[in-house]
Amino acid sequence: MIKPKSVEEVLETARIEEVVQDFVNLKRRGVNMIGLCPFHAEKTPSFTVSPSKGFYKCFGCGKGGDSVNFLMELEHMEFPEAIRYLAKKYGIQLEETEVSQEVRQEQQYQESLFLVNEFAKKYYQEQLFNTDLGKSVGLNYFRERGFREEILKKFGLGFAPDKTDAFTLRATHAGYNLDVLKKLGLTSQYGRDFFRNRVMFAIHNLSGKVIGFGGRILVKDVKAPKYINTPETEIYNKSKVLYGAFFAKRAIRKEDECILVEGYTDVLSLHQAGIENVAASSGTSLTVEQIRLVKRYTENIKILYDGDLAGIKAALRGMGMVLEQGLNVKIVLLPEGEDPDSYLQKVGVEAFREYITQQAKDFIMFQAGLLQEEAAGDPVKKAKLIKDIVESIARIPDPLKRSLYVRECARIMEVEEQLLVNEANKVVAYQFKKGQQEEERARLKEEAPQPGEVFAPPVPQPREKQAPTGDEFQEKDIIRILIAGGGEVFDPEEQVSVAQYILANIEDVLDSFDFPLYGRIARECHKRLLDNQPVDTTYFLNHPDEEVRQLAVNLLSSPYEYSENWEKRWDIFLSSQKMPDENFEKDSTQALKRFKLRKLNKMIRQNAEKIRQLFEQKSDDYMLYLKLDQKLKVMRNELAEELGTVVL
Ligand code: CTP
Ligand code: MN
Repeated sequence: MIKPKSVEEVLETARIEEVVQDFVNLKRRGVNMIGLCPFHAEKTPSFTVSPSKGFYKCFGCGKGGDSVNFLMELEHMEFPEAIRYLAKKYGIQLEETEVSQEVRQEQQYQESLFLVNEFAKKYYQEQLFNTDLGKSVGLNYFRERGFREEILKKFGLGFAPDKTDAFTLRATHAGYNLDVLKKLGLTSQYGRDFFRNRVMFAIHNLSGKVIGFGGRILVKDVKAPKYINTPETEIYNKSKVLYGAFFAKRAIRKEDECILVEGYTDVLSLHQAGIENVAASSGTSLTVEQIRLVKRYTENIKILYDGDLAGIKAALRGMGMVLEQGLNVKIVLLPEGEDPDSYLQKVGVEAFREYITQQAKDFIMFQAGLLQEEAAGDPVKKAKLIKDIVESIARIPDPLKRSLYVRECARIMEVEEQLLVNEANKVVAYQFKKGQQEEERARLKEEAPQPGEVFAPPVPQPREKQAPTGDEFQEKDIIRILIAGGGEVFDPEEQVSVAQYILANIEDVLDSFDFPLYGRIARECHKRLLDNQPVDTTYFLNHPDEEVRQLAVNLLSSPYEYSENWEKRWDIFLSSQKMPDENFEKDSTQALKRFKLRKLNKMIRQNAEKIRQLFEQKSDDYMLYLKLDQKLKVMRNELAEELGTVVL
């Protein structure tokens, strides 16, 4: 594995213009360079490279990013691949972590498992294409279903003949260990072939290695299962795999969308028709791991469901975590009795494409509409439905998106918007609290003495000597300004109020408040502004929530609430000790910067922890976080500079 230090060296050395120039002809234009965009067809150049800023941007298609990004987009490299490419280009010797004897053995063992699977795939392929039985039974089956040979070859399809142990014998004669065959699920405990008389689907991981198989029965048999699959093995974990993802990843990136289907044959059909950004969950409901896999390539998912209502409803229930991952989910309902494969073969690719484009509905709207129909005239059902929808909405990380959904769903379901808002807020608050409690528990557990550790009773600390936890201080500052001066004018020319200015700037971190009360207030203000309602002192002093009212009174009446010693004692940077009388502009700008600085520092810390963990787990993914680390630090340092704070 490449050491972080080397990755940083590469990132620092790579010059965007030099990297791009290997693929695109660039001409100087002022401080920038321009050329024809490699990502879309154009005759006049709108692809711009900024050597000083280190990034490229196309004003035609909107693509942009840094050197690594460029390679990942254009050449579809994975992050480590791009780093290796750049290291080679710049002659940088990459330092790799030393692999211990144990790790090496483990790697070799894993490699050997892949090799055996590869052998099996070749065997099944040979049976399909080169034996009489395979040709007449297997190949014929595929042909009748409309699959052409090139697609069969590309996806590594094959045929397992109806013989007790033909494969097992062949493999052991070739020198493969029987125990390994059993471990991989290719051979049963009793030494028989696991897959018999079935057409075979090889299942690949993201780097194209064979990790398992699915075998489909050839006849309609009510007793035997239609598909049997490799059981869970050391290299095959059904819930972490998306069938076809290896063959789809380029297209998913290019189309910036992933189509999800259920079945192996659906993937084959769509691919064959030229729709390549497709993968299958293989019949199970989607898992978080599968979603994360998609998220590496795109944030847009389109799920095609067979037109079977009961199944859809079951599937919808599991969708919360997709929303939690911040993905945009669209649903396409296929006509009754059709799956993607059958429908595509029936109507042809043009009509199919048109159908899945036009019928695609936003997930939440889809859910709202579906349930609304069902609950019409039944108040009990309707109440339950509101709860379900609110649950979904509350899982969306982006607060702005959330409020848009609330509005739209209220319309569809014909209920007061405020009702949905209240319900959604309850869920959000509950989840927030739960998160906090979990954090707290984790913290307490960490602090508890470990077994064998000498138990030292904690030194009692007077309450007031405790430093404010987390970002309480900065958060309070923000709330203080909202309460005291939210209604003031920030920018007379643009007619922007202080509250509008502040909230526009913290929109992206509205959910990362450490202090629930402050977070709640900030989010509520945000919501009010979206609805064109005032956020000012009067509002807070008359707030329906006692706790908020109290806070408002306290903050307004005791401008000196924080002692001057705080700065020395806790190393907190205070810019204003007094309530500003008129200068809300300066005050809010400063408060904002301090607030954001804290949030950035926190993100950097969390990210560092993530890097450490991934690195320990020997996952290359840590490099992605390393890149984020650099970005965060640039932002942090800029901010710190503006604030005049020294960051070490
Ligand atoms: N599946 C499975 N085991 C079964 C049935 C289904 O693992 N006994 C998985 C397979 O991955 C299958 C997917 O669920 O591709 C969807 O099942 P289904 O819709 O029944 O099959 P299709 O994919 O439509 O397969 P075919 O077109 O060959 O009938
Ligand atoms: Mn099917």
